[in-house]
Amino acid sequence: MSKDAVLKLDSKELTLPTIVGTEGERAVDVRNLRNQTGYITYDDGFGNTGSCQSTITYIDGDKGILHYRGYPIEQLAEHSSFIETAYLITHGELPTMDQRRAFSRLLTENAPIHSNMEHMFEVFPAGAHPMAILSAMLNSLGCYYPHLATNDHKQDLENYDETAAIIIAKVRTIAAYSYRASLGKPYIYPRRDLPYCENFLHMMFSDPYEPYIPLPEVSQALNLFLLLHADHEQNCSTSTVRMVASSGANLFASTAAGVCALWGPLHGGANQAVIEMLESIHAEGDDGTKFIQAAKSGNADKRLMGFGHRVYKNYDPRAKIIKQSFYSALASLHIKDDPLLNIAMKLEEAALKDDYFLSRKLYPNVDFYSGLIMRAIGIPKDMFTVMFAIGRMPGWIANWKEVASNPKGRIYRPRQIYVGAGPRNYVPPNKR
Ligand code: CMC
Repeated sequence: MSKDAVLKLDSKELTLPTIVGTEGERAVDVRNLRNQTGYITYDDGFGNTGSCQSTITYIDGDKGILHYRGYPIEQLAEHSSFIETAYLITHGELPTMDQRRAFSRLLTENAPIHSNMEHMFEVFPAGAHPMAILSAMLNSLGCYYPHLATNDHKQDLENYDETAAIIIAKVRTIAAYSYRASLGKPYIYPRRDLPYCENFLHMMFSDPYEPYIPLPEVSQALNLFLLLHADHEQNCSTSTVRMVASSGANLFASTAAGVCALWGPLHGGANQAVIEMLESIHAEGDDGTKFIQAAKSGNADKRLMGFGHRVYKNYDPRAKIIKQSFYSALASLHIKDDPLLNIAMKLEEAALKDDYFLSRKLYPNVDFYSGLIMRAIGIPKDMFTVMFAIGRMPGWIANWKEVASNPKGRIYRPRQIYVGAGPRNYVPPNKR
């Protein structure tokens, strides 16, 4: 049952309505606060701010619960695939058999990229990070489909199904091509007969003279990795997508912005940062013991990467699932006694017993194991965050749609508390 909040401010009393979500989440509705009082709310990092109402993903961070469109992540991980889940997220319901076939066909038809786009990979310098390439390419992709990237939400929404399929299909091709370009290797065209993940691995690792045939466990691990990353509520990159979308920008531009936001080490870049942390611990001859001590110093440079989460104050449910799949992928790849894995296990064991981590509710997040999985299946380190972006694409797309189709939608425009210099007069250069 909804109830009102009462705020006493400057000897006035203001009644603020509350909102209750379908899973019982509660919010105080402050939309009229500034109009009525002149005050704004201050919430650095937005930890207490609901920026939207959404029907896509539900998280209960205290209990470690994650649902996509109402379906528990554990059930989707066990029974669904990345593509079926992508349909669920972008369209709102699980597909019928016919819808599923039609979606797969659309993805297959849209897997190749325009041959002019191939030349664009050549203009990046050697060593260019594939996240920079991916973001630039996604935005450029819109130029090849001007009728789908009109920046008129009504018109862009009319073509939503096609645009969504183009982006989900081509992000994988662009990712694989950026890897091939970085090695100076020829591009491998997508095949019509291969499912999504196998096709990606084919474009990454086949050579014209030698096809790459992945072990089923490897494609399954990739499928699961992508599914587990498909959406995650109002995280930094998704909020960025919504922010860009709120100005009326098209789906290509909005998702390209999402890639940039994902790149940072506190967000999607954490999977790469975890492996770099493990490598440096190994190179220093530490087994994790010294590092754990340093991670407790509060020094941001020494954080235990892959631990902690803004929302989860319990084990990230994705970390549990990915950890299990990791062990079966390792067994099928005959990988035993990996020194980085040994360090990771030692770190996890030590942190889960340590009061510093327990009192701050810092548990392993999905990235603690996802980097190790990527590494085991042969994905190079600087492609890890790109893999995250491929997985997150359905979530970004669905969030863009929510913003674009909201008839009452307003441009996202937070306010600030100015704490800079007071008014002062301009000083000419020779008097400074
Ligand atoms: N190692 C050591 N201390 C930590 C860590 C960590 N990984 N994470 C948080 N803390 C400490 C932090 O120093 C602070 O301590 P104190 O209260 O003494 O000042 C306390 O825990 C709370 O931290 P916070 O910075 O206020 O937490 P946040 O909600 O702002 O940040 C986070 C969340 C994920 C950015 C952070 O936990 C972190 O940097 N983790 C490592 C990076 C990482 O794994 N990121 C991937 C997140 S999951 C993928 C995704 O969804 O994007």
